[in-house]
Amino acid sequence: MVSSLKRLSRKPAAGILYGLVLWAAFVACAAEQQKEVLDVPVKEEIEPSTIRYPNESAPLAWAMRGLFEDFEEVRDALREGQRHLIDIEQHITWMEAQPTDPKVKTAAFEQYAQLYINQINRFNEETDATLLEGHYKAILETCLACHATYCPGPMKRIRLLELDA
Ligand code: HEC
Repeated sequence: MVSSLKRLSRKPAAGILYGLVLWAAFVACAAEQQKEVLDVPVKEEIEPSTIRYPNESAPLAWAMRGLFEDFEEVRDALREGQRHLIDIEQHITWMEAQPTDPKVKTAAFEQYAQLYINQINRFNEETDATLLEGHYKAILETCLACHATYCPGPMKRIRLLELDA
């Protein structure tokens, strides 16, 4: 009799404990989601349309995503002391893509784009491996310079391409 009473009284206790575990897991998960929301890079605050409706992005925005992924490979290779050649024709095509805001395509934009292409050439043609890092940094400086003028949102993300990021 005593033991069956105990069993009875344990059941709800176990149920509450189980409920607590579930609740804790849920709260932890919600907290994680909350954290993710808070950690959203500046870019997504400034360019919500390109994030929420990626299919409606301008060709230049798509191009920039390809360009970013390309440079992730260049960065990873450099970190391992190797050179990843950059497809210059592809990058020229990407730089010519239509931006979201047509007003972006000013003479200064074209100058940055030209500088960018020249620097990629220098990187590809460099014969002294010890100078590659310098060329790579110069390319990133140009990404950042153009972005500071025309599209500051992704600058934080571009800095992830730095070799010591
Ligand atoms: C000549 C100017 C210029 C250069 C150089 C440049 N960008 Fe951009 N970038 C832009 C502009 C303008 C946009 C906005 C595109 C749009 O929405 O039309 C952009 C957008 C982006 C985006 C956001 C794409 C998205 O998801 O909407 C990333 C990431 C990016 N650039 C990375 C880079 C990196 C990395 C480099 C250098 C390796 C670089 N950019 C070089 C002008 C430039």
